[in-house]
Amino acid sequence: GMPKNVKIVEVGPRDGLQNEKNTVSTSVKVELIKKLVSSGLSVVEATSFVSPKWVPQLANCENDFMVLEFIFSWGDTLVKLLADAKDVMEAVRSLEAARLPVLTPNLKGFEAAIAAGAKDVAIFASASESFSRSNINCSIEESFIRYRAVTQAARKLSIPVRGYVSCVVGCPVEGAIPPSKVAYVAKELHDMGCFEISLGDTIGVGTPAYDGGKKSCKLWWTEVAGGVVEMRTPRWTEVVAMLGISIVDSSVAGLGGCPYAKGASGNVATEDVVYMLNGLGVKTNVDLGKLLLAGDYISKHLGRPSGSKTATALSRV
Ligand code: HMG
Repeated sequence: GMPKNVKIVEVGPRDGLQNEKNTVSTSVKVELIKKLVSSGLSVVEATSFVSPKWVPQLANCENDFMVLEFIFSWGDTLVKLLADAKDVMEAVRSLEAARLPVLTPNLKGFEAAIAAGAKDVAIFASASESFSRSNINCSIEESFIRYRAVTQAARKLSIPVRGYVSCVVGCPVEGAIPPSKVAYVAKELHDMGCFEISLGDTIGVGTPAYDGGKKSCKLWWTEVAGGVVEMRTPRWTEVVAMLGISIVDSSVAGLGGCPYAKGASGNVATEDVVYMLNGLGVKTNVDLGKLLLAGDYISKHLGRPSGSKTATALSRV
């Protein structure tokens, strides 16, 4: 049935900004996080401690293709100068009102995150072998080895670790992904200590009643959830209401997608999730007005219209 409360995990500053054509300055990223936290969101994913060679949007500069070339041709020194995950984290670490997890693809990223003041981290695996290769340059099994090192280090410091599973419905290369594979990856993440598992329909092929192939969503969910103790969060809003899922990932102004998933069309907008849940009487604790202002702010800085239908509709009123 319908949950009474939904926890929204805001991924705009990280998942969102990493895939926007334009980069914004460190101070704009920091201001965005502050605005999101002050709207009442209790979890705001702040940044990621990944290799800046892989995600140049994390660079603190005006971005276009030249930056990518620049980074490849000028090497480490420049890359290290440009990456701003540390600066972002240091500027927001004292915000008390929300949890501010950061992505850590390996021990190196974890150590950098902790040094910058992160108190929550997230690891990200995939249910698709091809996507694992293109996103983190290793097989699914190899990623478990890396992530075990991260979760062990995190346990020693009592740092909660969230686990992501990408491509839970389909993959741009492999097509439909079997639910059993999703369950397997989710269970591994759970067993290594993740307190919460986020299931990402990375390229957005799932629908409330359809899994990209043969099964109803409810059946899909039963198969996936059958393999693991605790799990939540497909990115499809309607499914939340249908299946009683109580944690949703979304991105302010619909920012983002994933640079390593061809065809990833962006994320569901947090404004739209809050608007729908308000309408259904499900509590989110988020102030829609303040959230809309955060969305306006970042859309202006990116020089593009908001990807939120609610923002577009309400701005015409
Ligand atoms: P690699 O090239 O295989 O790694 O990349 P490596 O260990 O050989 O290292 C290569 C270089 O990167 C070395 O530098 C390392 O020091 C450096 P060099 O010796 O050449 O000067 N390096 C790092 N630098 C900073 N921070 C680090 C780090 N690690 C190594 N943590 C690696 C492997 C995993 C590092 C790389 O593939 C990577 O960073 N991938 C991340 C890609 C990414 O961020 N993707 C987007 C996030 S996932 C996502 O959006 C999906 C999700 O939202 C859910 C969904 O929607 O599906 C979560």
